[in-house]
Amino acid sequence: MSDVKKVFIKSYGCQMNVYDAKRMADVLRPEGYVEVETADDADLVVLNTCHIREKAAEKVYSELGRLRELKGERASRGQDTSIVVAGCVAQAEGAEITRRAPVVDLVVGPQSYHHLPGLIARSRSGEKVVETEFPADDKFDHLPAAPRAVTRARGVSAFLTVQEGCDKFCTFCVVPYTRGAEMSRPVVKILAEAEQLADAGVRELTLIGQNVNAYHGEGPDGRTWTLGLLLERLAQISGVARLRYTTSHPRDMDASLIAAHRDLPALMPYLHLPVQSGSDRILAAMNRQHDSDEYRRIIDRVRAARPDIALSSDFIVGFPGETDADFEDTMRLVRDIGFASAYSFKYSPRPGTPAADRDDQLPEAVKSERLAVLQAELDDSRRAFNRATVGLVTDILVERQGRHPGQMAGKSPYLQAVQFEADGVAIGDTITVEITETGPNSLFGRPVGALSTPTRERMGAL
Ligand code: 5AD
Ligand code: SF4
Repeated sequence: MSDVKKVFIKSYGCQMNVYDAKRMADVLRPEGYVEVETADDADLVVLNTCHIREKAAEKVYSELGRLRELKGERASRGQDTSIVVAGCVAQAEGAEITRRAPVVDLVVGPQSYHHLPGLIARSRSGEKVVETEFPADDKFDHLPAAPRAVTRARGVSAFLTVQEGCDKFCTFCVVPYTRGAEMSRPVVKILAEAEQLADAGVRELTLIGQNVNAYHGEGPDGRTWTLGLLLERLAQISGVARLRYTTSHPRDMDASLIAAHRDLPALMPYLHLPVQSGSDRILAAMNRQHDSDEYRRIIDRVRAARPDIALSSDFIVGFPGETDADFEDTMRLVRDIGFASAYSFKYSPRPGTPAADRDDQLPEAVKSERLAVLQAELDDSRRAFNRATVGLVTDILVERQGRHPGQMAGKSPYLQAVQFEADGVAIGDTITVEITETGPNSLFGRPVGALSTPTRERMGAL
């Protein structure tokens, strides 16, 4: 077909960008676009950018340099290429992008993806289009669903956005500026999308939002639902074997969510709960709205509800004014809690955020040194957690073929990658294995007992 157009979408950053990239593809598909894997022969290239930490914007500009060459080469063959910058750098930098990189035809912020076809049409007529308003209409009402076959091809695990934006204004963070005010999607919309994903073979749903546990969507009963209630309802969808959510804020770990961890077998025993620092002074300067004791108490309550829960977190080292003693408090917290996994970053001043204006910024060398010390501790903690699961008999959701013939790979409830040898196992099955060994990047297991295929009946009975 000659009118098929090719789009290449490159995503940086968080899971919400991964989800958004799929929804952009969904909105472009009815316009005749098929997704391709490289920019080389694409008619439309979308850079779906991230602004959370350093160099993100610089990476975008160097990528745009490469795309300028590509666009030139294609033009010499008589082919048009439209270049779009989307995501949080688009939102933050706006028209600065088309000024610095004239190769860009369209700059579009995350709240306007449902307008993509119209915006692209405008840019094709020669206009440089910059769309970074927060429109009054809800993009989720206008983004079409993917056809079943497309969803099917996406595998057994899917993200589902339930909440977007943030009102917390941590002093280091750009999210409240790039993703806007906190908003929750209505329950019926989420259920419809979840049902559709389950029908297409998705077995694991990860609910995503910048502040996902602040979820307060309109319920079908006219009341406001919490994330705990939403999870309880989603657990009733047959075929959905596993539920996860990310990313949470300690302030929003309410009783209904903690109860969901106790009561819902489908809700996986894994919690990513960023703490950022173990120092009360730094937590206050970050405007996190809790201290380290409150964080410890929340962890105690979650562990009381679900004793085997695996904990994960985010850390920032080298926040302005952080002393050795503050950093020691972070190290102590890490040793006390025993995280199964974690992400840690050097503080990076983000223009427009309060912490960026402080005059007590730390030298890069101090940040690097602290990061190395913290990461070594977090690595030890992760390995200790993995070792503790050796001998455990647990369910693995099979996601793909393993590296070697006959090998399959999947995830444990604790989000560990597990490889095992098994015949007659299909992707999407849940299989019981005994964890036998830990490797550098994944664990190894041995199937025990009968294979359980996730039929609707079985899932309903769980
Ligand atoms: N510098 C370093 N890390 C940051 N994060 C957010 N903003 C910054 C920043 N300015 C980290 C936080 C957050 C994660 C998504 O990224 O740890 O939880
Ligand atoms: Fe950023 Fe998370 Fe703080 Fe919101 S709660 S401002 S997204 S770090």
